[in-house]
Amino acid sequence: MTFHRNRINRTSVLVGVVALWAAAGIGAATATASPPTTSPPQRAEVAAAPAPVAAEPASLTEQRGRPTVSRAPWGKTPDGTPVERYTVKNSHGMTVRILSYGGIIQSLQAPDRRGHKANVVLGFDNLQDYVDKSPYFGAIIGRYANRIAKGTFTLDGTTYRLPVNDGPNTLHGGTKGFDKIVWTATTFTTPKTAGVVLRHTSPDGDMGFPGKLTTQVTYTLDQKNQLRMDYRATTDAPTVINLTNHAYFNLAGEGSGDIYDHRLKIWAKSYTPVDKTLIPTGEIAKVAGTPFDFRRSTAIGDRIREDDQQLIYGLGYDHNWVLDRSSGTGLQRAARARDPQSGRILTVSTTEPGLQFYSGNFLDSTLVGTSGRMYRQGDAFTLETQHYPDSPNQPNFPSTVLRPGEEFRSSTIYGFSAS
Ligand code: BGC
Repeated sequence: MTFHRNRINRTSVLVGVVALWAAAGIGAATATASPPTTSPPQRAEVAAAPAPVAAEPASLTEQRGRPTVSRAPWGKTPDGTPVERYTVKNSHGMTVRILSYGGIIQSLQAPDRRGHKANVVLGFDNLQDYVDKSPYFGAIIGRYANRIAKGTFTLDGTTYRLPVNDGPNTLHGGTKGFDKIVWTATTFTTPKTAGVVLRHTSPDGDMGFPGKLTTQVTYTLDQKNQLRMDYRATTDAPTVINLTNHAYFNLAGEGSGDIYDHRLKIWAKSYTPVDKTLIPTGEIAKVAGTPFDFRRSTAIGDRIREDDQQLIYGLGYDHNWVLDRSSGTGLQRAARARDPQSGRILTVSTTEPGLQFYSGNFLDSTLVGTSGRMYRQGDAFTLETQHYPDSPNQPNFPSTVLRPGEEFRSSTIYGFSAS
């Protein structure tokens, strides 16, 4: 895996509103010869913050206007494992609720241009629905986000077989991926941030993947309305890895209707076309002259019904964009979405090379969400930062191989503002 370390500090001014891309981001995806980190949570990669201190009672920290984190029981899985919900709050109008089950972002309140808050992610108000029928709402995806063709790949001469769960392919880590396990969670606060560290060790052979994988995901909310995700993993045998978060966004508020008016910009000149099972053909195609050109901000719905074979295969957008990355390999801008009604803006920056933009095509009116409203096709979109789909079978794509002695690292920031 070719990973590097870098830093960006980029500020974008949007009609009088500061859209923060990635302030002081450190901790880019990197492969180093460092020993496996099975030690307590490492916070070094999170924005030059002081060492974390134990979470103190919300009442105390709220008085000081600092971000807070609290936790509460949120039911039990069918096998009796207790699940907790963590509420992370800042003093600038954002509240994020994270479950230990699946590392799920269960709700995310963000202010609009008048300061009115809404929950801008799809989800459920109870654990059972997540267990029974969630299409990965808000979850951490692993060991391999997106598809692996025919559920098989060969690494160092050995062929591995994974459970297929999406037509002939493996999707999002197989039948029981990282979205369906209960993570071990700890909380932290610093003067300017609060968050949750989630840890999970996936045994050798889990879902067919080789190597014992030790994984850590840190969610950090700051006072600039940025939610940062830092992923780390080590292995004791060669394996493949691709981690992401699968939040479904509707910047007008979940359950409020479709997202076709949202305007989207993606910093990408190319994308990876797919076959009819949504596996990349291997081609890196130019977006110019196609409905996949989001280099200028365009409404999601403008071209979604065009007679385009790729849109027909995906029932809309369900593709990986090849992000334009400058020589630096740290956090770089990837996408920006804006809801014209509320003015809410989501900016995405990442260390990853790819971005899956999925326009909620498979939402089919069968799920009733957090606010009691039913979700229909196009009621949300995802912007999943990732390596390209099916990389283990695509020699010309950036490698997703992780070896013992290396450390997988990647970071993504979802920033919220309004104008
Ligand atoms: C995939 C879609 C899939 C969705 C929910 C997305 O990441 O690209 O094809 O339907 O996840 O499973």
